[in-house]
Amino acid sequence: EMIHEINGLSNIEENLQRFLQIEKVMVIPGDLDKDSTVLKEMGRVAASYIKSIMRNDSVIALTGGTSVAQVVENFPRISRENVLVVPARGGIGREVETQASTLAAKLANKLGANHKLLHVPDNLSHEALETMMHEPGIMDTLKSISIADILIFGIGRADEMSRRRGLNDDDVKNLLSQGAVAEAFGYYFNRNGEIIFITPTMGLKFDDVKYIKNIIAIAGGKNKAEAIIATKTHNPHMVLVTDEGAAKEIIRIK
Ligand code: G3H
Repeated sequence: EMIHEINGLSNIEENLQRFLQIEKVMVIPGDLDKDSTVLKEMGRVAASYIKSIMRNDSVIALTGGTSVAQVVENFPRISRENVLVVPARGGIGREVETQASTLAAKLANKLGANHKLLHVPDNLSHEALETMMHEPGIMDTLKSISIADILIFGIGRADEMSRRRGLNDDDVKNLLSQGAVAEAFGYYFNRNGEIIFITPTMGLKFDDVKYIKNIIAIAGGKNKAEAIIATKTHNPHMVLVTDEGAAKEIIRIK
């Protein structure tokens, strides 16, 4: 029975890896929509994978969210020289505990690494962003983000994330009526993986994601299946850590 279950999941992993056309998929048993301990296990598995690819001088960029928070929380002890941790994009979100900058500082602390912050308020005007981008401290962080060799990010549903990010009701309605189903690093995607809205902030650009050597997405729960499919990074180096709930639903609706 146990063996069947293990085989079942590894078949699903291969199936998903081929369908999403990414490097590797790891599926944790269970569904985090029903059992929150599944997220912790996803975090643990993602963290130990990241440990295996981290080198001296690695630059790690990460996003916020509860999934990436679990990766940070469950990171094992590791000794590497001169590692730097940076938020992938600025500001984003009202929950301080799971903001990218907070998580970057926490992970750096665990690793005895350095970190840089990118404190930029959400939903700034383009003029304000443009001005801030030329601040030396911000330019320095942006430069580090641009040389990251590891990206750790969460994938969210567009409906949930647009509200969490404090978009007003009209903007949320507008976004959803245009077909947004997924959000990752501030980009909103429709069912076909086309970008339909970009959160006005700074940092990692979608077009640059494909140049990052190691890309690790952490997203699970049956309700995120469509969002995971839609977040196409077009990257053969991407690794997805998900759960059985999302994996089975992706296969059902694909
Ligand atoms: O950008 C997407 C979010 O990071 C996903 O957040 O991990 O809390 O669901 P979550």
